[in-house]
Amino acid sequence: MYVGPYVEFAPQYAWVVDIAGSVAGYVLGVAGTATFQRTCERLWWPALRERYPLGSFPSGSEDDNVVRLIHEPPIAPIALLHDYPAHLHIDLGPEAQGLGLGGALIGTLLDALTADGVRGIHLGVSPANARAVGFYEHLGFEVLERSTGGLTLGMRLGDNR
Ligand SMILES: CC(C)(COP(=O)(O)OP(=O)(O)OC[C@H]1O[C@@H](n2cnc3c(N)ncnc32)[C@H](O)[C@@H]1OP(=O)(O)O)[C@@H](O)C(=O)NCCC(=O)NCCS
Repeated sequence: MYVGPYVEFAPQYAWVVDIAGSVAGYVLGVAGTATFQRTCERLWWPALRERYPLGSFPSGSEDDNVVRLIHEPPIAPIALLHDYPAHLHIDLGPEAQGLGLGGALIGTLLDALTADGVRGIHLGVSPANARAVGFYEHLGFEVLERSTGGLTLGMRLGDNR
């Protein structure tokens, strides 16, 4: 859901943190969310939907929640994508947090997207994840939307800043 299609369809925007030979975190992005969503609908979700039919796991479990997303993935609003066409996911294991690595990963991704002429980037985060929200705002992301689904943050890139 959050890793496979990114590495498969946008490997040029994927980086990992390597601590003593083990992957301790990653940042993943795509430059064009609309195209990525269409590609996933054609080439990624069908096999997963077959492998994990709705009801594969106990109702309300974490696995059940992910299976529901596989069958009905979130679609970014078209209006958002005009100025913020790219999106990202970042995750560091506990041993890699608080060392400046998250900031370095985001910086690396934003530099690559900017060099490719991408206008802006967005991401979704739960408002309950106060640490991540503070992290993103510290890096210059702004709140674009608050909804029941969570917060959408965004940043313009390059000349659009
Ligand atoms: C959120 C996360 C990506 C942050 O990465 P990190 O490596 O811990 O953060 P860094 O140490 O690189 O911090 C970068 C900068 O942000 C600042 N910062 C970090 N968290 C902050 C917060 N909650 N509020 C304000 N500033 C914050 C740091 O002080 C640092 O500032 P500096 O560069 O001026 O010194 C990481 O902790 C993580 O993966 N957490 C678990 C998974 C998660 O929540 N992912 C996001 C899901 S949307």
